[in-house]
Amino acid sequence: MSKKNQIQAPKGVSEYVPPQSRKFEYVREALLKPARNAGYALIELPVFEDTELFTRGVGESTDVVSKEMYTFEDRGGRSITLRPEGTAGVMRAVIEHGLDRGQLPAKLYYSGAFFRAERPQAGRYRQFYQVGIEAIGVQDSALDAEVIAIADAGFKAIGLTKYRLEITSLGDAQSRAKHRVDLVTFINKLDLDEATKARAAINPLRLFDDKRDEVKKQMSKAPLLIDYLSPESIKELDSVKTHLEALGVEFTINPRMVRGLDYYTGTTFEFVHELLGAQSGIGGGGRYDGLMSELGGQELSGIGFGLGIDRCVLAADAEGISFDHEFKSDLFIIPLGEESKSAALSIAQQLRSSGLRVEISFGDRALKGSMKAADKSGAAYAIVLGDSEIASEVVELKEMSTGKTSSVTLASLQKHLQSVSSK
Ligand code: HAM
Repeated sequence: MSKKNQIQAPKGVSEYVPPQSRKFEYVREALLKPARNAGYALIELPVFEDTELFTRGVGESTDVVSKEMYTFEDRGGRSITLRPEGTAGVMRAVIEHGLDRGQLPAKLYYSGAFFRAERPQAGRYRQFYQVGIEAIGVQDSALDAEVIAIADAGFKAIGLTKYRLEITSLGDAQSRAKHRVDLVTFINKLDLDEATKARAAINPLRLFDDKRDEVKKQMSKAPLLIDYLSPESIKELDSVKTHLEALGVEFTINPRMVRGLDYYTGTTFEFVHELLGAQSGIGGGGRYDGLMSELGGQELSGIGFGLGIDRCVLAADAEGISFDHEFKSDLFIIPLGEESKSAALSIAQQLRSSGLRVEISFGDRALKGSMKAADKSGAAYAIVLGDSEIASEVVELKEMSTGKTSSVTLASLQKHLQSVSSK
């Protein structure tokens, strides 16, 4: 029970404190590294934007825009929205800074907080975190395959195995228009309640996403967009498939995939984790042909993804993946007395500058208490630093897992620790 005058975090936000924050950091870095290795550069953008960016960019028929935006008026009377996703903001910045006039594709990566006023549940938060990339200005199915493979490499770097990749094509504008006519005719004959009909009138594809059995059953015979693709779109999808096969990235085709954002065209994909229950999407993305021109820029296509860091942390937990070893110190120094503290600080500084992880016991704890702290920290080794050790320049290096000790000179401590920590 919280005390009456304590303030708690707002409902439904995800936040990370140690030890969970270490997992969060590890997962975020694992997801970012493949993008950096493929030449993507950081783009750091504001978490709030002009509301119109999202109504125009993401689409008014989406739940994200119609129900889930944190929108408010700022002190200057402007309508501001906390970013619900990253792609629209990246496009805005690319146009504003003229990145579309430089080397193409413009390849950008980002990570940070996003905001959607959804009903909170496990894996679904009102403030959540994504790693994302966008490659703008080149239409090439090899690039589509590379973007997908970068996401896949990120999940693999975390150690995840129990996930699958689903891909499809949402085709070009003409294919979608033809399909829409037939889908609307089909839906008009169904037995649906008024609210569902109204949803379908704005975007009939949304009915493929309906979780209710009676709607699912009726939609099982609905015409599928994949059967309406133009020869060019089919060729593109085939080419993406061939590239992915060559890369050894496994996938299935899901012709019923519906993404929650309206800007997608062509190659579209989702990564689904098998142990996460209802909120199983750990990442998704695709190509967006009209977004840039919709936002006042050139007619350039782009492709990208957003990966859910929170859900990847949950997925790693569900798969029993532990990152503990990544965060253990190499050495825990226990100084005895004021003078030893000064020596401990400078020894720690030297060892850290050579890349070792070193902690010091602070405060005036008794030796027993400090040893307990060393044990709890999970450090591989500990030394006690008293007057005699400083005078002789020799310490007893204690291996915490076995309790074994060996005498090591202070001068050789670094080499010694480096040789054991690299094992
Ligand atoms: P999205 O599918 O809406 O795509 O979100 C991407 C990922 O963010 C999801 O797969 C999920 O892991 C995570 N996510 C979304 N909403 C929540 C939430 N409420 N709580 C926790 N995690 C969540 C996009 O946002 C696109 N901008 C991706 C993209 C980039 N497409 C092209 N470029």
